Amino acid sequence: MKLTVIGGGNMGLTYAKGIHKAGLLGETISILEKETSYEYLKNEEKDFYVFNTAEDCIPSADIILIAVKPYHARAVFEEIQYYTNPQQLIISVMAGVKISTIQQGLHTKKIVRSMPNLPAMIGKGMTVFTSSPSVTKKEDDIVEQLLASTGKALKVDSEDEIDKSTGLSGSGTAYILYFMEGLMNAASEFGFTNEEAKQIVTQTFEGAVELFQQNDLSTSEWINKVCSKGGTTIEAIKSFERNNVKDSIKKGAVAAYNRAVELGNS
Ligand SMILES: NC(=O)c1ccc[n+]([C@@H]2O[C@H](COP(=O)([O-])OP(=O)(O)OC[C@H]3O[C@@H](n4cnc5c(N)ncnc54)[C@H](OP(=O)(O)O)[C@@H]3O)[C@@H](O)[C@H]2O)c1
Repeated sequence: MKLTVIGGGNMGLTYAKGIHKAGLLGETISILEKETSYEYLKNEEKDFYVFNTAEDCIPSADIILIAVKPYHARAVFEEIQYYTNPQQLIISVMAGVKISTIQQGLHTKKIVRSMPNLPAMIGKGMTVFTSSPSVTKKEDDIVEQLLASTGKALKVDSEDEIDKSTGLSGSGTAYILYFMEGLMNAASEFGFTNEEAKQIVTQTFEGAVELFQQNDLSTSEWINKVCSKGGTTIEAIKSFERNNVKDSIKKGAVAAYNRAVELGNS
């Protein structure tokens, strides 16, 4: 099966490398890049065939993964539409670009729209995807495998759920880092060096995540376990509750979802 990735930037290269490393496709992956980055990519990325013209790598592809910025989508459609065919499966990672827009732009029906997040770059990504009705179950399974090569992949039923995932996993990396920043600020105020603070905070996060993953207890049950009566943790939680921190986080995720819907409609 042949894959062509359009756009050899952050996400395009992340997926190309993830899929290549996982050995999921028998054949070498092609990357289509603009003239400006083509030479550089050709010299740097020896695991891939790098092209700068659509006719050399689009007609022969079974799967095309579009990883350009959303505002370049139209230009890509115009560039490749004469070389695509209805059998090809199109996977898009472009935020806010609807399946119907891609179908109209490429005159083709088999579209997968996905929402990755930044940790995909280190193999810890969360990619949520949905497919148009003409994508078969077998194709969905292939897509899931390909996307999961950069972490985990989850299929959802609608594009609305893609917008909701944008408010959770897509933007979520920044929320976690924001919380970490709060703890780092506290550590700095306590007099720890930046390096010490980073170690304390990241290890605390990793530990909490693994504890939660490896056991059946809910988040509240774990919080209650840590909060002994009259102890220290309960004082922090009481302070968070007084400041509506949990509710603010939920509101933030909803705000990101609303913005994703807005961008999709613009
Ligand atoms: N980064 C994230 O965390 C993240 C998360 C979720 C979704 N996404 C989505 O992923 C997509 C890609 O983002 P990114 O951060 O990987 O962008 P990026 O690093 O800018 O990569 C896009 C690449 O595509 C190239 N390109 C533009 N037009 C092209 C064309 N007509 N033919 C071939 N190549 C073309 C760009 O070249 P030039 O630089 O020369 O224009 C650039 O090298 C976006 O749509 C974004 O919404 C990203």
